[in-house]
Amino acid sequence: EKDSPFIRPATTTADEFALAFDIDGVLIRGGQPIPEAVEAMKYINGENPYGIKVPYIFVTNGGGKTEAERCADLSRQLELEVSPGQFICGHTPMREMAEKYNTVLVVGGEGEKCRIVAEGYGFKDVITPGDIIKTRHDTTPFRKLTDEEYRNSRERNFDDVNIEAIFVFADSRDWAGDQQIILDLVMSKQGRIGTRSETFDEGPPVYFSHNDIVWSTSHEHSRIGMGALRASLEALYKAVTGKELTTIAFGKPQLGTFAFATRLLQQWRKDTHGIDRPPQTVYFVGDTPESDIRGTNEFNESHLSDANWFSILVKTGVYQEGTIPRFPPKKTCNHILDAVKFAVQREF
Ligand code: G3P
Ligand code: MG
Repeated sequence: EKDSPFIRPATTTADEFALAFDIDGVLIRGGQPIPEAVEAMKYINGENPYGIKVPYIFVTNGGGKTEAERCADLSRQLELEVSPGQFICGHTPMREMAEKYNTVLVVGGEGEKCRIVAEGYGFKDVITPGDIIKTRHDTTPFRKLTDEEYRNSRERNFDDVNIEAIFVFADSRDWAGDQQIILDLVMSKQGRIGTRSETFDEGPPVYFSHNDIVWSTSHEHSRIGMGALRASLEALYKAVTGKELTTIAFGKPQLGTFAFATRLLQQWRKDTHGIDRPPQTVYFVGDTPESDIRGTNEFNESHLSDANWFSILVKTGVYQEGTIPRFPPKKTCNHILDAVKFAVQREF
């Protein structure tokens, strides 16, 4: 298609519309690009019959790394430069909570990466489950820290420390241990480790960076994700205390995430393309009806949106052909390349 006489070099940037992409199940699966992803990126960067470039951003529920590190991965996988200025992951909006809470527990992810992310967001005192286990190893009877985890964890005196909030930044690598520690804290006296509340209603709030029950990896069937941990924790709390635990989820389908994406896109269009007004239409391409399609549709219908948000569901991830999606998209496409071609053609 590259050599097709119908493709002109890109001379203009589309200013009436923009694209927003989910990542897992749309562009990437199990660390590898989806076959059509690289070509789709070339298409929207000018290798199309219209000679246009279309501005785009990425909105993933995933996380566990700094935005810069994740963009470097994406740049390699998609064979083009992806900037943090066009990227939001599940925990990006949690940055705004750094002013509200001083001492926080950060859960999930590989090694110390999430501590580094949280400190980068400006959280002043970040505790990890590893710190708690290192200080008091019988906290989790069947979980022993590896030598590396032991070296990285920070032993400290928790006697005067109140954990003010709990943030699950990325998928837990140890559900039992992490749930034990979160449960201890939500049942504590005001987040003080080792204490037990009489009423269980004074513990810290628990924030999850998203609520995806399942997500798409290299396995042929969807795998359980952070939303599953959330459901498990809430059920566990109920079983232990007889009470309901209310936790809070960020990420898609939350409208706040789409509002955040709107601001990011606005800034990106201005800084990179010199367009200083909102687009008429934003095409959102996702694979998960419960987060991508639901969020796009509800944001479109909300008073928060100044553009039309148009949902496109692809068949390369969580959604499986032949099933009826709980939240119906405006358009269903086989894969990302079909989706971007559909969007561009719809505009011409
Ligand atoms: O853990 C990540 C996953 O739940 C979803 O990522 O890119 O499909 O929003 P994404
Ligand atoms: Mg996805």
